[in-house]
Amino acid sequence: MTPSEQDPNRVLVFDTTLRDGEQSPGISLNTSEKLEIAHQLARLGVDVIEAGFPIASPGDFEAVQAIAREVHGPTIAGLARIHPGDIDAAWNAVKDADRARIHTFVSTSDIHIEHQMRATREDVKGLTRAGVAHAKRYVEDVEFSPMDATRADVAFTAEVVQIAIDEGATTINIPDTVGYTMPDEFKDYLTRLYELAPGLKDVVLSVHCHDDLGLAVANSFAGVQVGARQVECAINGIGERAGNASLEEIVMLLHTRQADVGFHTGVVTQEIARTSRLVSRLTGYVVQPNKAIVGRNAFAHESGIHQDGVLKERTTFEIMDATTVGLDANSIVLGKHSGRHALRQALSELGIEVDGQVLNTAFKRFKEIADKKKQVTAMDLEALVTDELREEIPAYALESFDVQASSARPPYATVVVALPDGERSTGSSTGDGPVDAVFKAINAATDQSARLRDFRIEAVTSGQDALGETSVVLELGGVTGAGQGVSTDIIEAAGRAYVRALSNAVRRRSVADQAADLTAEAAQASRISTP
Ligand code: KIV
Ligand code: ZN
Repeated sequence: MTPSEQDPNRVLVFDTTLRDGEQSPGISLNTSEKLEIAHQLARLGVDVIEAGFPIASPGDFEAVQAIAREVHGPTIAGLARIHPGDIDAAWNAVKDADRARIHTFVSTSDIHIEHQMRATREDVKGLTRAGVAHAKRYVEDVEFSPMDATRADVAFTAEVVQIAIDEGATTINIPDTVGYTMPDEFKDYLTRLYELAPGLKDVVLSVHCHDDLGLAVANSFAGVQVGARQVECAINGIGERAGNASLEEIVMLLHTRQADVGFHTGVVTQEIARTSRLVSRLTGYVVQPNKAIVGRNAFAHESGIHQDGVLKERTTFEIMDATTVGLDANSIVLGKHSGRHALRQALSELGIEVDGQVLNTAFKRFKEIADKKKQVTAMDLEALVTDELREEIPAYALESFDVQASSARPPYATVVVALPDGERSTGSSTGDGPVDAVFKAINAATDQSARLRDFRIEAVTSGQDALGETSVVLELGGVTGAGQGVSTDIIEAAGRAYVRALSNAVRRRSVADQAADLTAEAAQASRISTP
């Protein structure tokens, strides 16, 4: 029995950060990063993790499989188009999970059927019948989505949905794929769907809303009000184009207004801020300061009147307590005299268990930072851990750098970079500023001609000795790569972020090259075998 079957007001949270979210331009997470996020999503208490799209690439498959094997608690879902090959790949990737789900989809809008699929409505019905039946042979938990449903004929979508239910789909997810609908319209659409597809009342109705018109959360909430008991969403609202409904917003809406709306989720809200920071760091997608719930200003009061009010009585200008979403992360404080045991204990309180060599590395880096900072907070530790302790992939590493900068001449940087084969390479360059000079010197040392797309610096905490956290997105021969770096020295943080972004881009380019070679070989083979 699912939690929503036991309790009619329980809304299931289906997190698609690692699938739809990962489809955002410039995001390229490797398997260990995806695992790290998935473990945190499990701590957050989501009901379902959509771990990826296994047919999309060997890397996607590997990551979904690793999550299915190692992450316990939530159901692990793999996405599949309605074709047998996709469904087979999704099943093979998720089958080792404690609870596995296949999520399969096909479009029901005429725009998609005619122009994208070059098919007919009859084809869509046949594909749905065969596809859901195929998935059902593998697993009981099958989710079906009629893509672009909100721009499709509701009567036709209802026919397709009923076919999926007849074949055994247990969740029907209605996507507003292009973020086009409006709350009242969406309510009417779903209400009509309930009337036209009688089987819908016996399965879980889910909604999946995109934010192209800024309505993703409002539309998701509208869906819940008329019967949806699963909401698909992503941390920090990342996803295709303008993104998905933001998990933290829909969850905190249901939480904060529970007395009025009556719905609740199983999310451990105190884990929200940390999950948001982790996703932001690993994806390189910085959270806007005024973002609801997780922006750095979400609980800050600037005007004197507000500050005065909040000091007298918090509820004068605050509808939520910052601690409810875990924004009290400054609580764990370590100093330069803290030992290995204290560090291990503090990391453990953050849900990060380290031992042996990993603890030694963490401790060495902690000491370096603690020498420069008086107090190391929980947020500093999180930043350090995501910066330093991730499983290393064969990649470049910044060994050292030297920058000469003055107002008299352009800055000049020399860097030493460790190459994947263990060799060391030196590169030098001038630049428009010291950071630019370091980036160009890294290009010279690695013999790559990457171009910077995006560069951001954030202070992890406040104060003059704050750690600087940098995010770099760069482009290399048509692929993008993102990387992050943390240090009290922002030039060092920038250099670390740049080499990581470069490593990711090189890795992605080699995967793209291998895929292109395989496609060319397959085309060549089919020419040879065709009479
Ligand atoms: O936006 C969409 O339609 C999707 C489906 C695959 C559910 O992401
Ligand atoms: Zn989507």
